[in-house]
Amino acid sequence: MALSNPRRWIESAALAAALASLPLSAAAAPALAKTGGPASCAECHLQEIESWKLTVHFKTLDTMHRRPETAAMLAKLGLKSIKAEPACTACHYTSEPVLDQAQVTAGISCESCHGAGADWVKIHGDYGEGFTKATEPAAHRQWRRSTSIANGMLNPDNLYVVGANCYSCHIMNDERMVNTGGHSAGSAGFNLLTWSQGEVRHTILSHDNKANPEATPEHRRLLYAVGAILETEFSFRATAAATVKAAFGIASARRADAARKQLEKIQALAPTPELAAIIAVARPAGLRLNNVAELTAAADRIAALGRTFATTVTGDRLAGLDSILPGAADYKGKPYEVVAQAAPPKKAP
Ligand code: HEC
Ligand code: HEC
Ligand code: HEC
Ligand code: HEC
Repeated sequence: MALSNPRRWIESAALAAALASLPLSAAAAPALAKTGGPASCAECHLQEIESWKLTVHFKTLDTMHRRPETAAMLAKLGLKSIKAEPACTACHYTSEPVLDQAQVTAGISCESCHGAGADWVKIHGDYGEGFTKATEPAAHRQWRRSTSIANGMLNPDNLYVVGANCYSCHIMNDERMVNTGGHSAGSAGFNLLTWSQGEVRHTILSHDNKANPEATPEHRRLLYAVGAILETEFSFRATAAATVKAAFGIASARRADAARKQLEKIQALAPTPELAAIIAVARPAGLRLNNVAELTAAADRIAALGRTFATTVTGDRLAGLDSILPGAADYKGKPYEVVAQAAPPKKAP
């Protein structure tokens, strides 16, 4: 099971990278052999697909390889094609197995965030023979949800687990990519709340496919706090990969220090023992060069505590955050609007 769960895969990959110090380490990518691509979701999630088609994550398939910055970066790294280099495709695309070879088939898509689907697609939304959403027995619902998660589904029920994907791509943890290739050290200002409530937003399923409203105030607080914990975990992982000060080392350590300070600010406004435990790990960590063991251990501990935070702390306990919560004006991109179902065609006269 270990390899079909992308989260565990990311963690063991980070550990392996730390031990072997690979020249170019890959970040989040769903297990290749189990990836069915967005077409494997489209049959049932039509509206989610429509919303995704308006995002940068979708459009990047046709644009990224044509950008002059891409060619320049590849040349500096001595690499050939962004769609053929595993070091790039892990974060930039969805790959599917074609004749046992990895082939890029989409941009950043459903399974990049929800996990490779082969082992759970058939189970996760099946109410059982003869049952509907309304009549499904509670025990069956419980079974199908826990089985899909055990089979690799990253269910949004645990925001930390789904959000970890964002940060594993949006914060770079490869020194050579930045210092030699000139890649950015990560998306400036990335924030789980503001970056997920704009063009990425898809709350369509829980609104009967009729609307795509912004998250509730309680859920927005949780997105903000969980995002700050993830920012700390992943900027610690990045700092762990720094061996020289130049560009990457400084940028990563600054990001990590800002992230842990933000946790203190959150704790001052909306104190919880769950966050206190995380701060106790983050505060003393040495944001120094060549500090792989300490920073990786701290990041692993923060990840475990972050998953607990996301499932035990409810938004009503975080009301103190409302004074600093970013609003709709800061959302990244324009949210998708559900269009009314087209009327059935009139009969020909
Ligand atoms: C055969 C139909 C079908 C296919 C194919 C399908 N889904 Fe679903 N999915 C559903 C149904 C039905 C639900 C609602 C389940 C419920 O009511 O608990 C759902 C729910 C979900 C949820 C929300 C889970 C939750 O518990 O809140 C996610 C995330 C999801 N699907 C992702 C995907 C992804 C990603 C794919 C493609 C890899 C996919 N689905 C393919 C039918 C499907
Ligand atoms: C850890 C994940 C990750 C890896 C690995 C990665 N990228 Fe990126 N890349 C990103 C993200 C996220 C962005 C968007 C950055 C932003 O928001 O500022 C990006 C942006 C870019 C850009 C746009 C830069 C600009 O000026 O706007 C180029 C070009 C690029 N990547 C090329 C590559 C190439 C080539 C590789 C492989 C050698 C690669 N990337 C590997 C995550 C990654
Ligand atoms: C960039 C990452 C990302 C991509 C790509 C993505 N999702 Fe999601 N998805 C999320 C996150 C994060 C949530 C939970 C948001 C929250 O709770 O605030 C979510 C929630 C969902 C839900 C539950 C929505 C609800 O109303 O409860 C469904 C269903 C779903 N996604 C299906 C899909 C499908 C199908 C695709 C592909 C068309 C897709 N997702 C693409 C990140 C993503
Ligand atoms: C598999 C890697 C990956 C994952 C997972 C991922 N992203 Fe991205 N995202 C990227 C890359 C790469 C780009 C830049 C693509 C480009 O510029 O063409 C990007 C771009 C974006 C943009 C558009 C930014 C802009 O400049 O307009 C938003 C918004 C975004 N991501 C939000 C999210 C959120 C929120 C999540 C998690 C719920 C997430 N991403 C998960 C790789 C990823």
